Amino acid sequence: MRKPLLAANWKMNQTVAESFAWLEEFDRIGGDVLETDEVDAVFCPPFTALYEMHQGIEQHKMDIELGAQDIFWQEAGAFTGEISPAMLKECGVSYVICGHSERRQLLQESSAMVSKKCAAALKAGITPILCVGESQSVHDGGLTQQWLEAQLYESMGFWDNETEFVVAYEPIWAIGTGNAATAEDAEAACLAIREYLRERGGDVADKIRILYGGSVTAANAAELLACPNVDGALVGGASLKADAFADICRAAFKTR
Ligand code: 13P
Repeated sequence: MRKPLLAANWKMNQTVAESFAWLEEFDRIGGDVLETDEVDAVFCPPFTALYEMHQGIEQHKMDIELGAQDIFWQEAGAFTGEISPAMLKECGVSYVICGHSERRQLLQESSAMVSKKCAAALKAGITPILCVGESQSVHDGGLTQQWLEAQLYESMGFWDNETEFVVAYEPIWAIGTGNAATAEDAEAACLAIREYLRERGGDVADKIRILYGGSVTAANAAELLACPNVDGALVGGASLKADAFADICRAAFKTR
């Protein structure tokens, strides 16, 4: 049985002060979920808040993991603006989002770059959350499965066919639109991803957590998370509110 993983992707939102307020509120109202040990929760603030959040987690003795929204593949050097794996480790980061569609689209991040980021994360002992997902036109054309297989192939040069990591299925048309995938579509896509992993890695595919992301809310989380191949959620907008994210964590807990 895979333990549900709920990840909050704050994107370019929340100052350090706002992040701290969120953490304190989540501790107050979501602490009960974390204490059950039935779900893993990770939140991914902007780089600027990571160190403070790391200290906040320790101070409040919270059972919540810290994630980053990006990583660079070099260890150090003349790479203006980039953040190294060691810098993230120092801030207590244990997960990193790699290849989010916003970075692929807005910043021309290629699958080859995403693969290098995942490799660097694993080398540093940070678990990558590899994002894949199709556009509206691919979806409408009924080509989602083919798209996912190709994107996984191109983004997974790093994989040794046995190391565990996390995949997030995030259909681009569902991100920030309020138009979440149906449970049926989310399950079909996550199953296709698992089958791709199984073809390459055999049994380890059953241990790898596959998340769904795209307009997840406290209202639709239970239905999406009840799908057998949806092992959690990567939540954007709804995760900015500590109470909504706590409710999404509770929904995961209830589906087990
Ligand atoms: P929303 O939940 O705001 O649709 O964002 C999803 C997402 O991109 C998470 O990485």
